[in-house]
Amino acid sequence: MEELRKCIHAILEAGSLISGTLSQRRRAGETEYAKVQIKPIEIKNVLHYQLAYHYDTKVMHENVPVTELEEKMMELFQETFRQGLLCTIGADIQILISKKHKVSILSHAPSKKAAVLSHNRQKNYILEDGQPVAFLVELGIMNVEGKVLAKKYDKFRQINRFLEMVQDVVRHLPVGRPITIVDFGCGKSYLTFALYHYLAIQQERKLQVIGLDLKKDVIEHCSALALKLGYADLTFLVGDIADYDALSSVDMVVTLHACDTATDAALEKAIRWDASVILSVPCCQHEMFTQVENTVLSPLLSHGILKERFSALATDAIRAKLLDIMGYKTQLLEFIDMEHTPKNILIRAVKGSAGDKNELWREYMVFRDFLQARPYLEQACQDLLPRS
Ligand SMILES: C[S@@+](CC[C@H](N)C(=O)[O-])C[C@H]1O[C@@H](n2cnc3c(N)ncnc32)[C@H](O)[C@@H]1O
Repeated sequence: MEELRKCIHAILEAGSLISGTLSQRRRAGETEYAKVQIKPIEIKNVLHYQLAYHYDTKVMHENVPVTELEEKMMELFQETFRQGLLCTIGADIQILISKKHKVSILSHAPSKKAAVLSHNRQKNYILEDGQPVAFLVELGIMNVEGKVLAKKYDKFRQINRFLEMVQDVVRHLPVGRPITIVDFGCGKSYLTFALYHYLAIQQERKLQVIGLDLKKDVIEHCSALALKLGYADLTFLVGDIADYDALSSVDMVVTLHACDTATDAALEKAIRWDASVILSVPCCQHEMFTQVENTVLSPLLSHGILKERFSALATDAIRAKLLDIMGYKTQLLEFIDMEHTPKNILIRAVKGSAGDKNELWREYMVFRDFLQARPYLEQACQDLLPRS
């Protein structure tokens, strides 16, 4: 396998991969994707790779930056596939892996020419400008011909960015049964409608989506719109996140820009449900601002604006670490461009091991104590965490 890693590393470092196909599943008869195709794409003028997961009746896409592809391919070769064909500028590389993980790498004359990358962000949108989508028309983002209104273009981009995030995590959701998704603090629910449209209509997944918010009038408006659109499995409820106990099992929790510790209340619910996926964009993190104290950091903390930004970042670092400790693999990603809002960090957590739980906990405690923080999420999840 080390030889294979070196080979993939060299190809990616040279930027010479034109296309790749990974096939022949290690265990036959599995209902997962049968092959994965890889091609380079350009997103915002930056080289990425698109992985297309081929299932029986559908194809799911995932875009990854160059830095993540080597690991992704190695994972697929180690756990799933026994054959690969990597077409590069200089050669076609054939990879054969035996049942006992013995790797053979064969080189053949190149069969493909590198294409000019023309795949820009606009063409890569999941919802396209020019194609009418009922919920976007109803929400006033596009007209009935499908043209996105100029003043709504930022919202349109945000919705698409969110759907890209959803697209990336779909493979972590359970298959073979309907799934349940809760959107905490759904507000006007642009993103909740987008989520429903993408999964229920575009992906034809059986699911129920519940949007919850404190605001009665907003929820009434969203319920009426769901009814008008015929979104039968999208329900909106009035309520406080911390009090919500109508469900015993939820597969995915979304919480976008819910205020201050409402995000933590949502994360706690997700952890206790053992949700497979969590997508959360925190907002106005006031809690830490009132707690953080450290003389070493006084040049930073003595400036209100810096303290505010630092507290927000530290809050997200703490949330991410706590999620890791409680059984998730957590990444922090850019949600939308900084120019549109400073609230642009998305916490993406999927079930899995992020490392040794006790070691993660030790790291966490050092950080927490350094800041003299008493985070809501830690207090709320005490029974799930190692003892201090
Ligand atoms: C800034 S809006 C975000 C709306 C939507 N998620 C989005 O990103 O477009 C925040 C929403 O969270 C709701 N919210 C805040 N705290 C809440 C709580 N404890 N329980 C339920 N909803 C809450 C507010 O009422 C508000 O509608």
